[in-house]
Amino acid sequence: MTTSSAPGKIILFGEHAVVYGRPALAVPVTQVHADVEISDSPRAGIWINAPDVNLHAELNTLPSDHPLASVIHNFFFLSRVSPFPNLEINISSTIPVASGLGSGAAVSVALVRALSSHLDKQMTDKEVNMFVYEIEKLHHGMPSGIDNTVITYAKPVYFVKGFPSPSGRGQGEGKVETFKVGKPFTIVIGDTGIPAPTKESVGDVRKLWEADKAKWESVFDQVADISFSARRVIEEGWVEMLGQLMDENHALLQEMTVSSPELDRLVSAARKAGALGAKLSGGGRGGNMIALVEQEKAGEVSSALISAGAKRTLITTVS
Ligand code: MEV
Repeated sequence: MTTSSAPGKIILFGEHAVVYGRPALAVPVTQVHADVEISDSPRAGIWINAPDVNLHAELNTLPSDHPLASVIHNFFFLSRVSPFPNLEINISSTIPVASGLGSGAAVSVALVRALSSHLDKQMTDKEVNMFVYEIEKLHHGMPSGIDNTVITYAKPVYFVKGFPSPSGRGQGEGKVETFKVGKPFTIVIGDTGIPAPTKESVGDVRKLWEADKAKWESVFDQVADISFSARRVIEEGWVEMLGQLMDENHALLQEMTVSSPELDRLVSAARKAGALGAKLSGGGRGGNMIALVEQEKAGEVSSALISAGAKRTLITTVS
């Protein structure tokens, strides 16, 4: 039997602007994860069990654009696996679906890694990352690639989107730098419980940008300055300064129209309960917000978020 696991993620700074080539910072969230187990099967076919989404099916009975089927078919195609082996694939995940914590990308990363090691087709991290990016594109329009990148490397990343390869096919991995965390800091994640269709919020920001490129390029530049400063602040361990950068980033995300009354309510509840700063995280409209807290205030901020309507909270240390 082969097993593989991949963490969830949050974006600390720079979502949306990252789609326009500006840097963004993201970190893995290891308290939640997607897990895949693969074993050879005595019965014919490739049997997929994913009880969390109530799926028990043979591969060929799934539509070819099904997210799990597309990972397996593309992996077999690219790795030239033929004939198809008989497999039992068990998939489970503790990452809430459509919450902005990267559940889809984490399942894809864990699945492709489990397939490659079970079938002895070794892949480097970079190959896994590029593979999962192609899968993300099938399901999410034109994502920047930050989600698959932070989940593949499972380390804090400073990310700048790649550009199309000279052949015009595919896209480079982009600039992926891991950075050190000078002093660990605590983040409380608050989930609105509202499914966040990233494709829609990304599409709406694109419409704004198309209508007034000069204005939005300058907004994205302001976000880039924040991400750039945030990296330095994190590396130096000047955690107290991060909160203000989060607040500024949230204001720019509000201007991009990707916040929502629910997210704003959680962001202000966190600040009132003593958070050093707070912002939405990911695509926005629903999904998650994050708050920077002193460790001893984490419980208090978490309770304030639940009282303000969060469906769940998670406390994570970035180190
Ligand atoms: C989604 O987690 C982050 C966005 O910036 C979209 C993307 O980077 O593809 C909103």
